[in-house]
Amino acid sequence: MSNRIALVTGGTGGIGTAICRHLYDNKIKVIAGYSHGGDATHAKEWQQEQAKQDYEFEIVYGDVSNYESCGGMIEEAQSKVGPIDILVNNAGITRDTTFKKMEVAQWEQVVRINLDSLFNVTRHVINGMLERNFGRIINISSINGQKGQFGQTNYSATKAGMHGFTKSLAQEVANKGITVNTISPGYVATEMVKKVAPEILEKIIAQIPVGRLAEPIEIARVVSFLAAEEAGFITGANFAINGGQHMY
Ligand code: CAA
Repeated sequence: MSNRIALVTGGTGGIGTAICRHLYDNKIKVIAGYSHGGDATHAKEWQQEQAKQDYEFEIVYGDVSNYESCGGMIEEAQSKVGPIDILVNNAGITRDTTFKKMEVAQWEQVVRINLDSLFNVTRHVINGMLERNFGRIINISSINGQKGQFGQTNYSATKAGMHGFTKSLAQEVANKGITVNTISPGYVATEMVKKVAPEILEKIIAQIPVGRLAEPIEIARVVSFLAAEEAGFITGANFAINGGQHMY
């Protein structure tokens, strides 16, 4: 094990699990954040399942849409494992619907969980990183924050907003050994994408030059790359991993 410690929000989900495992394979101590409305059942089962496969993860509860709850999550993570060196802001949701039908709650939930979370979680770890002169912050955005998507005004707005956050914070902390980057996955084979109606998903896959969905590990590999000690000159950048679906 290296001495580096990572916190992955939404760590028990589709992309989150792959990220946790890949970081662990790279000798990093990993803490998975979960919410599930405060119900630990799923996270505990996930933790046991991972342990059976020789992946030892700590789990911590935190509602990323709530600043105080995130404070508690970071405190628990740091007291159980140690100071956070690598933060992966991965937790996110969709509430897809056309704008003309969108309810206030569908807008607000997505903004709070996908975008406010960047403030709520990162604010609690940034000063420690500054004091220790090291940090890696990796924000998981989406292809749809770059190109937009029918039915996702809420989601696309939050995922586009992440780029502004990344580029601004990157400038503020660059001289203290902290890098801040964004990854923009395309359509990945996870439960989130499986919620899209099969006939719509079929049309989307037809627009992907590589001809398939991404595997979660294809996102996780880039997270580990950015989390490495050697990645210190990469900051304020975005990494599109979308099978060629959107190029610019
Ligand atoms: N472009 C233009 N028009 C479209 C369209 C498109 N892409 N898709 C549908 N339409 C048209 C339909 O033909 C239909 O037209 P008519 O009314 O003339 O028949 C109309 O729009 C349907 O509009 P509705 O408001 O009734 O839409 P709906 O309720 O049937 O479906 C939706 C809306 C559920 C959002 C559906 O469009 C959908 O699931 N879209 C895909 C959203 C998506 O890609 N989500 C990604 C989730 S995964 C993720 O987000 C991870 C990631 O980062 C990639």
